[in-house]
Amino acid sequence: MGRSKGGAWRTRFGFYVVAIGSACGLGNLWRFPYVLGENGGGAFVLLYVLIAFILGAPLLIGELVLGKSLRESVIPATKTLEKKSQLPLRWAGRFAVLMSIVVLSYYSVIAGWVIHFIVQFALGLFSTKESIADGLSVLMGSGGLQWALTSVHLLIVLVVVGKGVQEGLERWISSIMPLFAILVSVLVYRSLSLPSTPDVLRFLFYPDFSKLTLQSLIHAVGHVLFTLSVGFGTLVTFGSYMRDEDHAPTAGFRVAVVDTLVSLGVGLLVFPIAFQASNTPLTDPGLLFEVLPKFLLEIPGGVIFGLVFFISLYLAALNASIGLFEAIVANFKSIGGRQQSRAAASWQAGGLVLILSLFPSLSSTVFRNWRGGLIENIDSFLVNWLLPISALGLLYAIIKGMGFKSLEENFVDRERPVSEVMFSHWVLLVKWVVPAIILTGLVLQVIGLFL
Ligand code: PFF
Repeated sequence: MGRSKGGAWRTRFGFYVVAIGSACGLGNLWRFPYVLGENGGGAFVLLYVLIAFILGAPLLIGELVLGKSLRESVIPATKTLEKKSQLPLRWAGRFAVLMSIVVLSYYSVIAGWVIHFIVQFALGLFSTKESIADGLSVLMGSGGLQWALTSVHLLIVLVVVGKGVQEGLERWISSIMPLFAILVSVLVYRSLSLPSTPDVLRFLFYPDFSKLTLQSLIHAVGHVLFTLSVGFGTLVTFGSYMRDEDHAPTAGFRVAVVDTLVSLGVGLLVFPIAFQASNTPLTDPGLLFEVLPKFLLEIPGGVIFGLVFFISLYLAALNASIGLFEAIVANFKSIGGRQQSRAAASWQAGGLVLILSLFPSLSSTVFRNWRGGLIENIDSFLVNWLLPISALGLLYAIIKGMGFKSLEENFVDRERPVSEVMFSHWVLLVKWVVPAIILTGLVLQVIGLFL
């Protein structure tokens, strides 16, 4: 567990596998395509990549360094920093964990939809467009079914996390990641052979800045934070499990690079299908579940393609949920200042998330008149408003609580001269660039509300 000084990963790759597995999730496969669609394509891709490196990576590194140096999860860590600095910092840790709980509650509902699609494809029930529409309306018409599927998903997550860091997380995600990588590569290859590819490449890589809106900056910030799992405190927990000899900043940077490449790769997977099917980019969160399956029926081998696509989507959702849940459990273990067992903390956290997930499960039934959809509203409020604030709060806690001197000691590795250069860049970014971008993004978003 986090307090073990030498770290808890079994191998050096343990950290990478779990951190990358948790980063590459529904955010890449479900969220990125429609956020990109909403924000006009190419110009947003550029903004996204830029923000990933000047804002996402530095924040990710900050969380890892905090976890590794204190060997604690985010709530106890911010408490320690508060005591040390005499500044009010512990709210940042609590806020981050609250965000994780809320995200997991709707993330699990979407994972439940994916399970439904896998079953439908596997049983051969999706054979005509009508049968797909029926399958979708059965799902959307039943809050009970959605909640039941959510429970199945949460139970799988709970079993894995209940087994512990090495036996559960590390072993399980290590065995899933190669499969996920192979499946996604096959799908990208198949997708790029569709005739719509030239249009897609133009859409994704030709920047038309007039398509950006006042909200685009914060949408890019929010999405980068979401996809890199920053601002939730998850990375503080992962950092606390790192081995002494591993260099957190380098590891963090690599995770950011891989996740960004996966997002771009996924664009090449989803957009050719979306363009081919409806001639429009995806601008609605539900389209992945609507446009994609219907279109797949029209291409040779489409049912297999669909099955493989939804299995990949599920594996991604599962890994990310496992990462989120692990961090929640790690924090729950030391709740109220007393230690409790992993099993007890897992059941408490699982129960809480399951109860909360009732609301998003009822999004398409009881709450169907909610303008814009309940899940979509929770997601956009959380990602575009609360998450940037949470990330800023954690950054403030890290800088003020640890101080640049102690940060430097934990950051710079004398055997790696490049780490000194990295540190000076990092300081510049976290001191000025990151807060400036987040605050500007939030202000532009507020202005956008009134225009
Ligand atoms: N990064 C994940 C995704 O893109 O789907 C979502 C996520 C996972 C957020 C784990 C936070 C987290 F701790």
